[in-house]
Amino acid sequence: MKTSERTQILLVSVFVIICSVSAIYLWNLPDNEQDVVIDPTNKKSVVLGKTVYAKHCASCHGAKLEGQPNWKQRLPNGRLPAPPHDATGHTWHHPDKLLFKMTKYGPASLLPEGQYQSDMPGLKGVLSDDEILASLAYIKSTWPKEIQNRHDQINARVPR
Ligand code: HEC
Repeated sequence: MKTSERTQILLVSVFVIICSVSAIYLWNLPDNEQDVVIDPTNKKSVVLGKTVYAKHCASCHGAKLEGQPNWKQRLPNGRLPAPPHDATGHTWHHPDKLLFKMTKYGPASLLPEGQYQSDMPGLKGVLSDDEILASLAYIKSTWPKEIQNRHDQINARVPR
């Protein structure tokens, strides 16, 4: 086996492990946050979300949701750059609960304390739950209908 193939297999395995570990921690939201819903058809929420996004997300994720340049490549500090939130990113691959959890508590909250370092701080204490959901509703409202539908299907597969 060539080294490049071995590296590829290793990377895929690491990815699968991270996904399954986050699936375990994913449901670990407090009881009062079990039924969070991101609703891009709620106009009030989308309008609020646009302002929240511009003020609290755009500096890293880009004014046009385009993410940081070369977002798939790790930074010299080993951390990931901010990914785009448009249809080219993988935000839409994640169900509502996971997006809410990553935004409120930070991506590092998906793993036990100290095991994952992220440049994204949790916005708990800065934004209310409604503002967090609004920013995500705004993000979802910008996706093409087809991607929104696929995201609805992903949501339908996870327990509420
Ligand atoms: C200080 C920079 C910074 C700010 C401000 C910021 N983010 Fe992030 N965000 C990041 C980085 C960096 C990542 C990738 C982190 C990682 O995976 O370690 C990320 C990842 C995410 C993810 C996971 C995306 C995925 O596809 O896995 C979501 C969702 C997210 N951010 C939402 C938001 C929202 C919503 C806001 C505003 C309310 C916001 N972020 C503000 C830097 C930031």
